[in-house]
Amino acid sequence: MPIHIAAEAFYNGFPNLPSWWTMLQVATVFAVVALLKWYSTGASNSSERNMHGKVVMITGGTSGIGASVTSNLAERGAQIVLLTHQPPSDMFIVDYIEDLRERTGNEMIYAEQVDLSSLYSIRQFATKWIDNAPPRRLDMIVLAAATLTPPGKPRVLTREGLEETWMVNYLANFHLLSILSPSIRAQPPDRDVRILFATCSSYIQSPPVDDGTVAMKQKEWSPSKAYARSKLALMIFGQAFQKHLDAYKRPDGMPMNSRVVFVDPGYSRTPGMRRWLTRGTLWGLAMYLSMWQAAWMLLKSAEGGAQSFLYAAMEATLGRGPGGKLIKECLELDFARVDVKDEKIAKKLWEGSEKLIERVEREEAVRRALEKKEFEELERTRTQTQTPAEKPGANKEAAGGGTENKKSKSRRQRKAK
Ligand SMILES: NC(=O)c1ccc[n+]([C@@H]2O[C@H](COP(=O)([O-])OP(=O)(O)OC[C@H]3O[C@@H](n4cnc5c(N)ncnc54)[C@H](OP(=O)(O)O)[C@@H]3O)[C@@H](O)[C@H]2O)c1
Repeated sequence: MPIHIAAEAFYNGFPNLPSWWTMLQVATVFAVVALLKWYSTGASNSSERNMHGKVVMITGGTSGIGASVTSNLAERGAQIVLLTHQPPSDMFIVDYIEDLRERTGNEMIYAEQVDLSSLYSIRQFATKWIDNAPPRRLDMIVLAAATLTPPGKPRVLTREGLEETWMVNYLANFHLLSILSPSIRAQPPDRDVRILFATCSSYIQSPPVDDGTVAMKQKEWSPSKAYARSKLALMIFGQAFQKHLDAYKRPDGMPMNSRVVFVDPGYSRTPGMRRWLTRGTLWGLAMYLSMWQAAWMLLKSAEGGAQSFLYAAMEATLGRGPGGKLIKECLELDFARVDVKDEKIAKKLWEGSEKLIERVEREEAVRRALEKKEFEELERTRTQTQTPAEKPGANKEAAGGGTENKKSKSRRQRKAK
């Protein structure tokens, strides 16, 4: 083919080219597209760390940016504990883990069921984790899970009656880390433990969080406000959690070596982002698919979004000095709001969250006890009203089990004689 083209040009000259002006216009368009794509792709992580054998607990590791972080850390030999919505026996989780093990050549990938929309589910998992003696190894916690309500959709309450975005994006992390805190503090002093919080620049637009009660009010709710507020609360809590870790006096007198790092991955093409852009509707999905070039050009891939997480996980300088830094585009940035580091606000939010969790857990415990009692009573009345034929074991007798019983009875009688 190239020979044909060269021969054609040699014998018949070059075909007519468009005018220089047209060529300049086309070249400018290509340059703008390339520049935009280069800009939206974002920075790449160049930091490396030996992750072999390090235990990494991760939420949101089954989708989007979290999935990419999981795969990258697993490839480097980290032991992964995925906290998943579904139980480990779920077909999707089984397939997902098998595929991940095969792709990364790492067998040390497990799942534990933790529904982040349920305080009870978080407590069940976290208490089981800290009950281990000696304390289990834990090198990193990646808090990548999040949810959002697409614009135009109604406010969602969890089974426990909490606003879903607030619960999954903020309160779940507060509850999980509060319970896991002893296990984090019990890690040896030479272990560089990192807790990565996924945040988002939307926190800058958030209304104040106060003690958190505002997040439960229907009047104060809109999808974008709820999301931004949950991220701001998460950052305020993250700073307070760092102080809580720093204040701990280790029995061996060594300094604490656990650090919180906030990571803003930048806008990326993930299932979560797609849900937001499509408004969770079919027509929205059709629009998104018809304009996929725009999404491709303006948004990072999930792998691109994972870069700042990988930097936060592996950059050596983040394992020294004070914790509580914010990373975006693999660079350390300043916080855009002063309330993130305001100790008074943090105290108010911490106490408000503790109070809310205590109240909900107490109410839920009563509800579960009542449900159990009702169920047991139902079972009792059901067995009392059963005819002998309906009773358990009756079918066995009818199917010949009776003859068996008679035989064993006569055998027993003979033995007794
Ligand atoms: N994508 C962006 O443009 C962007 C920008 C800035 C910040 N971020 C932040 O980066 C993080 C990752 O974003 P993403 O877009 O990659 O997320 P995503 O694709 O929406 O994935 C969210 C993950 O959270 C999990 N999750 C949701 N609800 C859960 C629950 N109740 N219990 C347990 N797990 C639950 C999901 O599990 P299931 O699939 O099983 O529900 C999924 O693995 C988030 O914190 C997000 O706020 C993202």
